[in-house]
Amino acid sequence: MTVLVAPNLQATTRFQVTLGRDLATVKNSRELQDYLQKNPAELLVVIAPEIELDEALQIAKLERIDKAVSVILVRQRLEVAILTKAMQAGVREVVAADDAEELLAAVKRSRLATSEQYKKSKAATEAPTTLAKTALIFAAKGGVGKTTLAINLAEALALEGDKSVCLIDLDLQFGDIAVALQLEPTKNLSAAIRMKGNLDDAGVRSLLVQYRPNLHILLAPMEPADVEFISADLVDKVIRSLRKQFDFVVIDSPPAITDFILKAFDQADEYLLMTTMEVPSVKNLKVTLETLQAIGMPEQKVNVIVNRSTAKVGMSIADVQRTVGTPIRAAIPESNIIPNLLNQGKTAVGENQRHPVSKAFIGLAHFLRGEDEHAHEHRGLFGRRSK
Ligand SMILES: Nc1ncnc2c1ncn2[C@@H]1O[C@H](COP(=O)(O)OP(=O)(O)OP(=O)(O)O)[C@@H](O)[C@H]1O
Ligand SMILES: [Mg+2]
Repeated sequence: MTVLVAPNLQATTRFQVTLGRDLATVKNSRELQDYLQKNPAELLVVIAPEIELDEALQIAKLERIDKAVSVILVRQRLEVAILTKAMQAGVREVVAADDAEELLAAVKRSRLATSEQYKKSKAATEAPTTLAKTALIFAAKGGVGKTTLAINLAEALALEGDKSVCLIDLDLQFGDIAVALQLEPTKNLSAAIRMKGNLDDAGVRSLLVQYRPNLHILLAPMEPADVEFISADLVDKVIRSLRKQFDFVVIDSPPAITDFILKAFDQADEYLLMTTMEVPSVKNLKVTLETLQAIGMPEQKVNVIVNRSTAKVGMSIADVQRTVGTPIRAAIPESNIIPNLLNQGKTAVGENQRHPVSKAFIGLAHFLRGEDEHAHEHRGLFGRRSK
């Protein structure tokens, strides 16, 4: 059973609607202590938004020290400051008061995480955890379409609904996935800075914004000033944790090889290296390939993606392939559908899966899912990568 800490009947009734009538209720932290003493098997405490933050945090701290009790904190508004304090106090998840669906999901997750059954099955399967197939999108040049690919590929991977996908915005300084998808960046990587010492999988999970039922996004910090506190090790830890929690991880990056991007390269299974059909962009791709080779990144992870492949610019895809000396994994046509939908906070794959642009993203998703036989139409044209 779940215990609700709520000061009055009105708040209690509201939660009963979402969580069901089978809900024990107490009014404050003192009553909760009494209750838990009598019911030591209780595993989950939900704190209503009417409970003052200080008292709520006190409860979370006590529960963390005393037993394996999970605390879910419900607040009227999700603010970074609250999220940070809550995580430090040991709160498992913070949920917005008006998000009944997320509350139910959080309750489900917490129950699963703390139940004895889970612990046993975890011990039994402590053997190697399967890590998410991780795709890093990179180009040393700005504006070639990295973010466009990142959001559309994540959508395409999530499309069939059978796999969980996490999209990470590692363009920490200028990350624009939040803007591109018109998301409220209430949760983002910044809170991880304060959780450093005790950044566990649940803590990392709490940084994510849900975009589709099976697509979560880790947004870049809202405050550019936070970026200097984000170390490569922290990024490494976050990616590692997300790889344990999802089937696929897609990483968007800034147009530069930074120390934290190198961590992402270390963890990625596939590098999706982008270029447009312009000489500076192709030249940058060539330099990137040489750099990666020089620092020992495995060549078989390289996939070259040509964006705006239908642009009439006096260069063909075959020219790109010849110049960089690597087969082209996918070609994404140029289309106004991309900027048009971007201005509405939507993606091509989300809106129109039959559009040639969407088909290119979906083909790439098939490749990552290991369904190469249905993959992109260009395979025959440009040949397969030799392994
Ligand atoms: N295939 C395409 N057809 C038409 N427009 C495109 C295409 N791909 C990207 N664009 C547009 O190009 C612009 C740059 O794309 P995007 O933001 O994805 O690039 P980026 O590589 O992430 O840039 P940055 O390095 O600044 O992060 C956007 O306005 C986007 O809508
Ligand atoms: Mg970008």
